[in-house]
Amino acid sequence: MSNSVSIRDLSLSFGAVTVLKDLNLDIRDGEFLVLLGSSGCGKSTLLNCIAGLLEPTDGQIFIKERNVTWEEPKDRGIGMVFQSYALYPQMTVEKNLSFGLRVAKVPEDKIREKLARAAEILQIGPLLRRKPAELSGGQRQRVAIGRALVRDVDVFLFDEPLSNLDAKLRSELRVEIKRLHQSLRNTMIYVTHDQIEALTLADRIAIMKGGVIQQLDDPMVIYNRPKNLFVAGFIGSPSMNFLRGELVERPNGLVFNTNGVDFVLDGYEATGPLAAGQSVVLGVRPEHILIDDEVPDGAENHEALVDIEEPMGADNLLWLKHAGHVMSVRTSGTRRFLPGARVRLGFNMQVASLFDTETEERI
Ligand SMILES: Nc1ncnc2c1ncn2[C@@H]1O[C@H](COP(=O)(O)OP(=O)(O)OP(=O)(O)O)[C@@H](O)[C@H]1O
Ligand SMILES: [Mg+2]
Repeated sequence: MSNSVSIRDLSLSFGAVTVLKDLNLDIRDGEFLVLLGSSGCGKSTLLNCIAGLLEPTDGQIFIKERNVTWEEPKDRGIGMVFQSYALYPQMTVEKNLSFGLRVAKVPEDKIREKLARAAEILQIGPLLRRKPAELSGGQRQRVAIGRALVRDVDVFLFDEPLSNLDAKLRSELRVEIKRLHQSLRNTMIYVTHDQIEALTLADRIAIMKGGVIQQLDDPMVIYNRPKNLFVAGFIGSPSMNFLRGELVERPNGLVFNTNGVDFVLDGYEATGPLAAGQSVVLGVRPEHILIDDEVPDGAENHEALVDIEEPMGADNLLWLKHAGHVMSVRTSGTRRFLPGARVRLGFNMQVASLFDTETEERI
C-alpha cells in the first residue's frame, strides 16, 4: 500500500527548546491516523509542519510521494480544520464555503456542484444563507469542515476540531466525522488529547509524549498490548491498575508476587523470556478483573474487600482492597455490592500487561 504522508527525521526547535526530534511517521493512503497525547507534547507542532504553517529545523515531509518540505501550504494538497473555526463573520455560510474557490478562479458551475455536495454530506443545506453568528457551535464546526471539503484535497488535517463543543455535540460530530471518512476515504490526520476520540475514530493511533511517538498501532493493540507504562496509563478510563512486585519461581512455574501474594501468569503472552527475580509492574484493566461467579471454575481465586462502589448506570465501578493495593474493577451495573463485603477475584492474564520496572517497557 502506498503512503499518503511520509515524515522523515523531522526535528523542530523553538530557539533552545526542541519540540520534535528525529520523528519518523508513514501514513497510509486513505488512513485515519490520530495523533494522541497530553497538552504540550507536540501534536499541533507536528500537524502544522505537515500543513506548512511551521518550517521544520531539519528533516523532510512527503505528501503523495512528493517532497513538500519547502512548499507553500496552499500547494500541498491539504485541507485543515482547527479547534477555532475562524469563519468570516460578515459572510453567509455559502460565501464562507465558496470564498477560497472564487479566489482560485474555479468556474461558477463547478463551485455550485462542490457546494451542493458538501452541504449534502454535512447536512448544512438549510443553513447556507445564514451567517456564522446565527449558527450553533456544532453547525459552525460543520461549516469549517465543509470549507476543507469543497477543495479537492488529498489529506485532511484536523486539530482538536471538537474540543470547543459540549459533550453531546462532540459525540454526535465524532460520528459524522467517522461517516465522512467512510464515504470519502481521504487520508485524515486528526489531533486530539481525547482518548475516546482516538479509539473510536482511528485506523491507527500514534501516541506521543515529549515530541516522541511512543506507539503507533491499531487502537485495539494499543489498548490490549501497550508497549510501555506510559501508553498503558494514558489509554483507558479509569486507568489500568498497576501493581508493583517481582517475578518469583514456584514449583508450578513463574508467578507474579506483590506484598507476599502470588498471582499465576497462566495465559500471559510475554514478549521474551521472563526471569525470576525481575522487578516488574503488573497492569490489569478494571474490566479484566472478574468478580465472584464471573471467575471461571478452576481459576486462581483471590479474596478482596469492597471499599467503594460507584454505580454508573450501565457499569458498576468497584474499588477493592487486595494484597496491599486498591484496585478498580468494572462490572455490570446490575450487580451491587456493599462496602466491607468480601468478594472473590479472578485475573485474566491473557489480556494483562507486565512491564519491567526499570525500563518501563512491556516484557
Ligand atoms: N511559537 C512557539 N515558541 C516557543 N515554544 C512553542 C511555540 N509553539 C509551541 N511551543 C511549545 O512546543 C511544545 C509543543 O506545543 P504544541 O502546540 O505542539 O502542543 P500540543 O501537543 O498541540 O498541545 P495542546 O494539546 O495543548 O494543543 C509546547 O511545550 C509549547 O509550549
Ligand atoms: Mg495543540
